[in-house]
Amino acid sequence: MIKKHIAIFASGNGSNFEAIARACAKNRVNAVVALLVCDNPNAFVIQRAKKFDIPVFEFQPKNYASKADYETEIVQILKKHNVDLICLAGYMRLVSDVLLNEYEGKIINIHPSLLPAFKGLNAIQQAFEYGVKLTGVTTHFVDKTMDGGTIIGQVAVPIGNCTLEELETHIHAVEHELYINTINKIINYENIT
Ligand code: GAR
Repeated sequence: MIKKHIAIFASGNGSNFEAIARACAKNRVNAVVALLVCDNPNAFVIQRAKKFDIPVFEFQPKNYASKADYETEIVQILKKHNVDLICLAGYMRLVSDVLLNEYEGKIINIHPSLLPAFKGLNAIQQAFEYGVKLTGVTTHFVDKTMDGGTIIGQVAVPIGNCTLEELETHIHAVEHELYINTINKIINYENIT
């Protein structure tokens, strides 16, 4: 079976990027990570991509007149790499029509809460400080809104007596598995239909 081409969009640390890249390298996912798209030239995720020999498109939004301009360039590069699926993994920007129209139904995201609760930045801390007993991780299709779009998968994580740091560690481990399962679901579904 032909391997799908995934592009991962990330802005920071890249632990989800690395989990997906490793799962592809070990054939746990029938895909290759064909490209990292990164809007922050200082992000650690770029080092991770180099380790896996994955091409990187780095850009700085401030060097473009508009979001439409940089997304237009991104679309050209995605096409050059024959990308089938875009995975946002800590990509801290909203996506506009330029990408959404070109890759309709093919852009997914992961967020460290049980959406629709605790959208946006620092979701793990938001849930911890709110005092909820249960939080978790969500994967979803991407629309124009922040952390919005049809939910694909969710895993609940009880907070119990965890410290914030322990909760973060646990949530990130859950994220890595859920993202791999979600990508597999999408790839396998597409092979059937
Ligand atoms: C992850 O927890 C991801 O769910 C979150 O950013 C983190 C990136 O970590 N994304 C969002 O909050 C999206 N709203 P990573 O760079 O180590 O993968």
